[in-house]
Parts: sequence; structure tokens; C-alpha cells
Amino acid sequence: MSLADQQQLEQDYMLHTYRRKPVQFISGSGMTLTDDEGSTYLDFIAGIGAVSMGHDHPAVTRAIQEQAARLLHVGNYFYIEGRGELAQKLSQLLNAARSDGDAVPWRTFFANSGAEANEGAIKLARRHGALNLGGAHTIISAKRSFHGRTLASLAATAQPSKQEAFKPLPAGFVHVELNDIAALVAELEQPSAGAVCAVILECIQGEGGVNPCSLEYLQAVRTQTQDRNILLIIDEVQTGFYRTGGQPFAFQHYGIMPDIVSLAKGLGNGMPIGAVSARGEVGDCFEPGDHGSTFGGSALAVAAANATIDAMTHQGIAQQVIEVGAYLQQELEKLPLVTEIRGRGLMLAVELSKPVAGQVVDACLGQGLVINNTGPSTLRFLPPLICTTTEIDLMIPVLHDILSVL
Ligand SMILES: Cc1ncc(COP(=O)(O)O)c(C=O)c1O
Repeated sequence: MSLADQQQLEQDYMLHTYRRKPVQFISGSGMTLTDDEGSTYLDFIAGIGAVSMGHDHPAVTRAIQEQAARLLHVGNYFYIEGRGELAQKLSQLLNAARSDGDAVPWRTFFANSGAEANEGAIKLARRHGALNLGGAHTIISAKRSFHGRTLASLAATAQPSKQEAFKPLPAGFVHVELNDIAALVAELEQPSAGAVCAVILECIQGEGGVNPCSLEYLQAVRTQTQDRNILLIIDEVQTGFYRTGGQPFAFQHYGIMPDIVSLAKGLGNGMPIGAVSARGEVGDCFEPGDHGSTFGGSALAVAAANATIDAMTHQGIAQQVIEVGAYLQQELEKLPLVTEIRGRGLMLAVELSKPVAGQVVDACLGQGLVINNTGPSTLRFLPPLICTTTEIDLMIPVLHDILSVL
């Protein structure tokens, strides 16, 4: 079906929640996407950070095909192959930065998306507050954060423009300035501070424009929460699975240990899967019946996730992301109009001196380059982690030419 016909059908039969770009992709391989007219594009956004190991990764595709031919789904009343193994792998990755050998295991609930992972994290923190903190239920999040579009994850998402139309949102969410420890402590020391059960943060805010927590801030948040027995939830939905290079998770760069971590995106290489993992006894707060999902942890999603994580390990992605991310940063710095680069590894944003980011994205698409912008002057790069300097060397001249004439 042609792009025009597809556009008409979506116009007539879909809810209009997106302003889509005028292109219809039909296949992908590695970092290359192909549209319905046979034109190819370099993908520097990877399904919003989800296609971590590239399109049609041979091992992931094989695992999905084999699993699909055997068993798709039976629901969570039963055991299936691979789910316990996947949860064990997550525990090992979450403890990867520890060298003390007595790492406490993490236990995981599988969901289908990042928002759902955060819903699980919020419910678990509230349960912990009810059992251990006299019913404390308030959750503090950071301004400009993004935690999802379901009602509770939207209440945690401190972006008024996204919340306004859907009020009343679930109660019990407070928002503070990022990287301002005094603001957080003031909130914790309110007369009603006993009501706080958790703080939720992204180590690097993704949708909010790639805004990193400072080292001092995140370490202070950990100390302040730990001292009060308040849980620290780290949302690794976008930053997780080597996106920031070197370590599997961004929190590991900060030398802290959260209590709960939410995961999704890169875990399934494009197959929908989310997860909420809790460290040690925090996980004991959930009992059978407290939380659930029909599709969460399906045989197909689990097979894709196991293959994705194994591929990351076998292909030495941790180191590659450090090296290629540094090269990308270095090359972006040389471009016209660039005033600042933020982020880490292969999660980078470029701040432009003019509000032309939307125009740049559209011009790039016209020249076979898929990037995105998180604001009027902010370009974002989230390529598959298999990205090499070759693709960067193809991208930079295109960007250079576009930015030079704006
Ligand atoms: C940090 C973060 N948390 C949560 C979400 C929501 O994930 P999903 O769109 O899979 O529900 C996103 C999505 O961009 C995200 O970046």
C-alpha cells in the first residue's frame, strides 16, 4: 500500500495521537531502514532507543522465529522456559558494578512497556511504604522527567503540558528541580515528610532533553533517601542496557545502588517488554495477587530479551558504546550552531543556538537520515548500540550541510 493510502487510512481510522513523518518503512537491517519506494535511511533513533542491537539482528530474529513456531504465550499461571534465566541475567547485570561478591539478588516482574514498568515500581514503593513506613505513599520526581503516559506514570512525569488535559491525575506525586539537593531535602523535611515513600529519577532525563543528574546530586539523593528508609527508584527505561556505555545501567556510573529499577526499550531489541526489578527484601513487599499482567513475560518477549542480552555480551557492546559515543560527541561538537552537547555513550543531545531543530529533523529525513528533536532547539541521537564510526562519518556531512544554511 502506498504512503498516501496508508496516511488516509490512519487519518480515518486511528486516534490522532502522533504527528507522523511522511515516510512508510517496510524493512530494516542493522542501522539501515528501507521505505516503500526502496529509499534507504540511516537510523539514528532506533525506535526511540528500543532497537538496541539493530534491525533484524540475526540471533534475535532467529530466537523470535524459533519461539514463535513453538509457543507464543500461555499466561502467568504457568512456568515457561527462559523466564527465570532472563530474571537471573537481569540480576547479574544490575549487580555488574559490584566487586564484593556478596551482591544481593534482584527479583523482577515482567511487563510490556516502560510505563507499565514504572506502574509496577510505583505500586511496589507504595506497598513498601504501607508495610514499613506507616502508610507513606508520596513519590517525588524531578521536573522535566518522563516516566510514561499511563495515569500514575504520567503523574510522576513532571511536565505540565503532558498532564494538563488528563486531570485529575492520581494523587501523591510531588515534583522538584533536578540537581537541587536542597529542594529535595526541603520536600523530605516538610511536616508531612513521613508521607514520602520513594523518589523516582532518570540518571539522564531522556524525553526531557537529555539532562544528566550530577554525580554529587544522585549520590546525595541516595544518602538522603537511605537515611530515611525511603526507596530510590531509578528509571532506566531509556538509559538501560549499555545505552550510556561501559556499564549495563546508568546508575552504575554514579556508584550508587537503587532499591527499584524500571526497564524496557533496549531489553527486547524492539519486541515489547518491560520489567521492574527490586533489590533484596524490597521485593518481598509484593505477594501473589498484588500485581499482574496477561502478556507480561510472554514466551516470545522472553526469548527476544534473552537473545538481545546475550548478543550484547557476545558483541562487546559495553566497550564499543564508550568508543563510538566519544567519537559521535567529538564530531557533533564541530557542527555549526552547536552550543552544547549533553548525555553519555550513545544517548546524546545537541543544543542549537537557534530554534530550528524541527526543520533539521525534517531536512535530515529528506536526505536519508533519521534523527529526532526533543525540543525546538534540541536534537537527540539514540542510534542502535551497534553503531560504528562509519555510520557517523556518513551522518555528519549531511548534518553539516543542513546546519550551515540555517
Ligand atoms: C525514561 C522513560 N521512562 C518511561 C518511558 C515510557 O516507556 P513506554 O513508552 O515504553 O511506555 C520512557 C519512554 O520514552 C522513558 O524514556
